[in-house]
Amino acid sequence: MTTRHRFFTTPIYYVNAKPHLGHAYTSIAVDVATRFNKMMDNTTFFLTGTDEHGDKIVQAAEKQDTSPKAYADQISRLFQDLLPFLDVSNDKFIRTTDPDHIKVVQNILASIYDKGDIYFASYEGKYCFGCERFYQDRELVDGKCPDHDTEPSLIKESNYFFKMSQYQDWLIDHIKSNPDFIRPKQYETELLSFLKEPLEDLCISRPKSRLTWGITLPFDEDYVTYVWFDALVNYISALGYPDGELFNQFWPQTRHFVAKDIIKPHGIYWPIMLKSAGIDIYEGLNVHGFWNVKGSKMSKSIGNVTDPVEVTEQYGLDAFRYFLIREMVFGLDANFTEDNLVSRINSDLANDLGNLFSRILSMHHRYFKGTVPSLADEFKTDTALNLEPQAREAIDAYVSSMEICAYHKGISAVWQLISHMNRYIDTQAPWVLAKDEANQAKLAAVMVNLLEGVRVVAGLIYPVMPQTSRVMNQTLGLEIPDNKEFYTIDELRPWGQLASGSATQKPGILFPRIDTKKADTQKQETIKAVKPLKPPVKDQITIDEFSKIDLRSATVLSAETVEKSSKLLKLQVEVGSEKRQVIAGIAKQYSPEDLVGKQVIIVANLTPAKLMGETSEGMILAANDKKNLVLAGFDTTVKTGNPVK
Ligand code: MSP
Repeated sequence: MTTRHRFFTTPIYYVNAKPHLGHAYTSIAVDVATRFNKMMDNTTFFLTGTDEHGDKIVQAAEKQDTSPKAYADQISRLFQDLLPFLDVSNDKFIRTTDPDHIKVVQNILASIYDKGDIYFASYEGKYCFGCERFYQDRELVDGKCPDHDTEPSLIKESNYFFKMSQYQDWLIDHIKSNPDFIRPKQYETELLSFLKEPLEDLCISRPKSRLTWGITLPFDEDYVTYVWFDALVNYISALGYPDGELFNQFWPQTRHFVAKDIIKPHGIYWPIMLKSAGIDIYEGLNVHGFWNVKGSKMSKSIGNVTDPVEVTEQYGLDAFRYFLIREMVFGLDANFTEDNLVSRINSDLANDLGNLFSRILSMHHRYFKGTVPSLADEFKTDTALNLEPQAREAIDAYVSSMEICAYHKGISAVWQLISHMNRYIDTQAPWVLAKDEANQAKLAAVMVNLLEGVRVVAGLIYPVMPQTSRVMNQTLGLEIPDNKEFYTIDELRPWGQLASGSATQKPGILFPRIDTKKADTQKQETIKAVKPLKPPVKDQITIDEFSKIDLRSATVLSAETVEKSSKLLKLQVEVGSEKRQVIAGIAKQYSPEDLVGKQVIIVANLTPAKLMGETSEGMILAANDKKNLVLAGFDTTVKTGNPVK
């Protein structure tokens, strides 16, 4: 294997709110890439950091009655502290308020300006303060920003612009001739389709009259640079551009990792900025999808913003890392729920991996007192007993998937080996072999193969679960060459590394099973302790979807109980000139005589349904209040059949 220098980056995160699950994922995904590359004998450099200038930060600081710098210091600290907590092994943490970074941004701006790719012009446009950018009409949805659902403000001002269109053909050509530039493929397609439209020039400044919290333009004291021109440059300023040693070693062998939200700045602005500044283009961009939580986009208003610290404290770090990396198909969105997390912990970690490990080591202690036996010659070539081919297959499949960030496939390859070994134990039945002295040599061969197989498993899980890998290696009594904490892939491959006569330790429990019943109560208690339970809110719908529901005022004409049902009442209601029968589950709260003459709200266009043999032509609305149903109505009398909006 040849050693290469490889540079990995996360986006630098905005400091307008504390880190959540999404930020933790990208940092862990890049950590996995970096650790895997170390196993491939590459020399790596891993950069992450915080993006600290711009309107958003000023606004967040104002809300807390503090200065932007003090606010940025406070939130950046949270991002920095999260890294060791998640076992993220970054080599550097950059802040865009670092003086060295500021110098490089000004240097790049000056060279692009000198080249004539930046010009000054007056501009009027629709500006979204949330996104900190101007919008074209065609990008708006019903006149509103698609991300913030707010109407942009009309702003007229003179600004500096970066000419991008002249580089458009070059970029299209670069993307097409470098199929690994954007991964996975669907995002390459997305970018190329965006590049079919002429590229508009990018506004790269803000007048200081409107924003002072930014880097001053080197060619105009009255302006600061717009956030992207500042933020993207972090990737080279962190390496000491233009002549730092790290820059010489690691640029441009770079893979940037981002989620799909910032593919345009990374896939379009950044390569064009580099090209214009005469700097080599980075090697590639890896784009992942979004984590939703319980099926919805994380948002403060829904109350589902997930704190990675809370999840880790409750379920353990390696379990959390494993879940994130196994569950998300890199490139697609994934859904985070505690139920999914618990089920993966119980099945993949406690059952498959944990059981395999404790079964093998317990048998090793039971039958061989924890000493590695030697393998008799007659069994060295016994294909039925030899697990080496399966281990080799797993390593190869793992390497080819991990190299392209298909993490879920890489892990599946390891779990195939684990399942194979669990089946192998059942077929070889060491407990039967142990009963007969004549089978001692075969039992030893089975044991050696199992120990060797689990050695490979321990090595391969290192990027995803470094702590578990360490514990497994220690238990197996392995000493990793050069005092490293991982085996390279080349070191892992050779079969028969557990020297005969060496000792293993008795196994502990790698992953305790989570009792789902207990976990539920425990979960409720933790949630209550941390934050009050919020009312559950379902997925958002558009106004068009809502307008499909025909809600009407209605008056109850008569009501009676439904035979054999303690819950249902049969109501005859008047909806305008129409009479309808509706079955409502309110018998426990309302008696029939309470209801006659009452005005209610009915969903009038619901497909008729049969309940206990009775037809229901609509549904009456009621609130669920502590398991008690309370009918929704009006605070004054209204005409029946009126639409309710
Ligand atoms: N500051 C810019 C990036 C500048 S990079 C030169 C920014 N910051 S951010 O705080 O909004 O971070 C966005 C990134 O955080 C995403 O690209 C992704 O890496 C991560 N995630 C934020 N929310 C996420 C999910 N819900 N799911 C997965 N990752 C997410 O944009």
